[in-house]
Amino acid sequence: MRAGIFDSGVGGLTVVKSLIEHKLFKEIIYFGDTARVPYGVKDKNTIIRYSLEAVEFFKNFNIDILIAACNSVSAYAIEEMREVAPFEVVGVIEPGVKALKRKVPDKTSKVLILGTKATISSKKYEKLLIKEGYENLLSIAPSLFVPIVEEGIFKGEILDVTMKHYFKDIKDPNAIILGCTHFPLIKQEIQNYFKDAVLIHSGEAIVEYLQQNHGYNKVFSKTDLKLFASENPENLKKVAKLWL
Ligand code: DGL
Repeated sequence: MRAGIFDSGVGGLTVVKSLIEHKLFKEIIYFGDTARVPYGVKDKNTIIRYSLEAVEFFKNFNIDILIAACNSVSAYAIEEMREVAPFEVVGVIEPGVKALKRKVPDKTSKVLILGTKATISSKKYEKLLIKEGYENLLSIAPSLFVPIVEEGIFKGEILDVTMKHYFKDIKDPNAIILGCTHFPLIKQEIQNYFKDAVLIHSGEAIVEYLQQNHGYNKVFSKTDLKLFASENPENLKKVAKLWL
């Protein structure tokens, strides 16, 4: 089995990490659109246009499935990608909602959704969660987390101040959706801030989703990873060495 993983940049490596840990694929082809990152501040039409270009890129490889690791792409472009792709296309939002349903089944739970501006303004998580019966929802776009993580800052003073800035008025969520590729890298700090909350990570959610909904139950002895980027592939390789 060969998977394509598409992200706006390096952040999708957090999803790759989960897929590699579970050895669901023999090969992973990763494409990060590093020349045009971030997508999370762009509008719907631009995100769709870039995502369709990524589908064209993946047509060069004999992939079985394309996973949009990027939440902003998952929020806006999955249907459009499916229309033109000769392979299956899945995003991370539906798997995230399914993971939440499994881990926090109480529908009165207070759910905090963290995402980019694009993901939050799409209301995609909210719509799916409301459909599932969750009503106690709060969404915010803590945009500064993305450059902080890109700087390689995963804990410490800068992150503490930034978390306080975004979280100071939020009272005790029961669950938090880490609806952005970068947020799993500061998962521990978010967990320390909201000690009792259950955190939902896109990478873990997509693994469970593929196993349960798509029959990806075979385990390969190892996963080969090929990395491509629209700019500075050396940096992508460097980050991959650090994060994976
Ligand atoms: N990959 C993006 C996402 O998960 C975060 C970075 C960006 O804004 O491009 O939405």
